[in-house]
Amino acid sequence: MNDKLAQNTIGAVDGYIRSALNEREERERNQLRKWIWEGIFNIPHHQILLRGDDKLSESEILKVHFALKALKNGEPIQYIVGKVPFGGLEFSVNRSVLIPRPETEELVMMVSEKVDAEGMSVLDIGTGSGCIAITLAKMKPSWKVTGCDVSEKALALAVGNAHSNGVDVQWRLQDVLQWQLSEEKWDLIVSNPPYIPIGEKEQMEDSVIGYEPHIALFTPDDDPLIFYKVIHQISQSQLRENGLVALETHHLLGPKVAALWNDPHRWEVTLKSDLQGKERFVFVQRKGNA
Ligand SMILES: C[S@@+](CC[C@H](N)C(=O)[O-])C[C@H]1O[C@@H](n2cnc3c(N)ncnc32)[C@H](O)[C@@H]1O
Repeated sequence: MNDKLAQNTIGAVDGYIRSALNEREERERNQLRKWIWEGIFNIPHHQILLRGDDKLSESEILKVHFALKALKNGEPIQYIVGKVPFGGLEFSVNRSVLIPRPETEELVMMVSEKVDAEGMSVLDIGTGSGCIAITLAKMKPSWKVTGCDVSEKALALAVGNAHSNGVDVQWRLQDVLQWQLSEEKWDLIVSNPPYIPIGEKEQMEDSVIGYEPHIALFTPDDDPLIFYKVIHQISQSQLRENGLVALETHHLLGPKVAALWNDPHRWEVTLKSDLQGKERFVFVQRKGNA
């Protein structure tokens, strides 16, 4: 790359980034430039022009080179820069965890608006980067939040994310499919579990299939609701009266997930759409004395 650069200034490198990304649509190209400047150099997008004559070192230019190469190979920019904004916080990400999605941010915002009680005990199942658990703990300092995941590497990242965002969350290494019911009670169970039937793999983008952890994405074709069924069982005996289950799911599975809590004397079930109008969130409230 360096020999194609007339100068080692921010302006020249930005020009190089633009031309390396010239096959992408303008909007995507500009977003990626923004990610590169902000994510790798902490330079806000609006300062690129102002700082056009500032010089970059050889090693900084190499970082741009590797980022562009990885983008060309289809790696998501979030893994390349190693961090992602979520709920007003910043999360480190690597290939051990799903990249937190905007829909999941919607779920967190819905939960925080719906529930304003103090001191809630909260369980986040399949916590990944910890984005749900940590954002809730930050927004609701009185809540006692626990995040669990079957992946040790994911939990290691979540621990660091809680630390860097200044919150206290309990973490458990737990295969939820092997959950042992107990006397422990929760006021809120929240989860964005794996929900994509493995048969849909062929239709998915290469950048997802090639880089995001399959354990975070897929369920068996013959049992796409497997995680929701377990969460249903946990809620039957470990959710407190008036407690809430808040779930994200596949936009075609919402009604089926909702139907698991099919006893109207016991549960009040609400299906909610995301900002794209897709029925993606299921809220289940346990009725008092039920
Ligand atoms: C769709 S990702 C969600 C990650 C994060 N909560 C988010 O919203 O970005 C599902 C998570 O469930 C975890 N997981 C998969 N199978 C599991 C199991 N049997 N028990 C517990 N966690 C599991 C994965 O490691 C992954 O972190």
